Amino acid sequence: MKKNVFAMAIAACMAASLAACGGAGTAETTGAQTTAAQTTAAQTTAAEAGETASAEETTPAETKAEAEAAGGVLVMATNAEFAPWEYYEGDKIVGIDPEIAQAIADKLGMTLEIEDMAFDSIIPAVTSGKADFGAAGMTVDEDRMVFVDFTDTYANASQVIIVKETSEIAGSADLSDKKIGVQLGTTGDLLATDLAGDDNVERYNKGFEAVQALLQDKIDAVVIDSAPANVFVEQSQGLKVCDEAMSQEEYAIAVAKGNTELLDKINGALKELKEDGTIDAIMNKYIPAE
Ligand code: ARG
Repeated sequence: MKKNVFAMAIAACMAASLAACGGAGTAETTGAQTTAAQTTAAQTTAAEAGETASAEETTPAETKAEAEAAGGVLVMATNAEFAPWEYYEGDKIVGIDPEIAQAIADKLGMTLEIEDMAFDSIIPAVTSGKADFGAAGMTVDEDRMVFVDFTDTYANASQVIIVKETSEIAGSADLSDKKIGVQLGTTGDLLATDLAGDDNVERYNKGFEAVQALLQDKIDAVVIDSAPANVFVEQSQGLKVCDEAMSQEEYAIAVAKGNTELLDKINGALKELKEDGTIDAIMNKYIPAE
């Protein structure tokens, strides 16, 4: 049962209208559907219609047209609610994934566009061609590989438990009868469901909302990736992260199944960026070593 949660969610999402899967922001549709391989004309139309992401609005049309003529546009789907991997600074999406993606786009001579959406809309966006790739602290997962191909991995992570400082919960062994908050469709969602059963899992669109629920005593714990957990605990009062690392996960970039051309290009760029120290430098900037 549990193994098929992603598959079921994605299948359901694909069966429904794709527009409905795009999350709240549907303004991106026209611009994002236009992939790098497609014509400049379509891009120009999208730009004229004002349907492109806000980041580009400041780019003069000529510069954008030139960039497209030179190398094309790469559209990245993400869920910018996941510091330090991706989050907003003002109205700009920043973090490890945007910086790695920018470095990849630079290597490929392409222009990066970032589309923010619900986490569980990222894979449907990639499979439908609304986005060229997904980068979102996304764990390589067998069930997801039915729908997308993953690049080489670029980071390690694990699921951890956030509780109130006063909580008696010390680890996963204490979670079986507790109310656990997670971000919908994540590996934390799967793990919590496994530990405490479907009825005990509260699914939120944002990790932040789960943390708010914990602060308000609506739930007993939050299960989420380690680096975001540390950020949430730093930003709020009275919370702690349990010591236990409950899983070993690896993050990679997702491209549409069978898009070996893009997969190979990204892997080539990633390899160079690992070798020349760029990936390490980006990581250290956002997650300074203790
Ligand atoms: N690593 C987890 C997963 O792949 C959580 C990722 C959540 N990412 C985000 N940008 N909200 O399921």
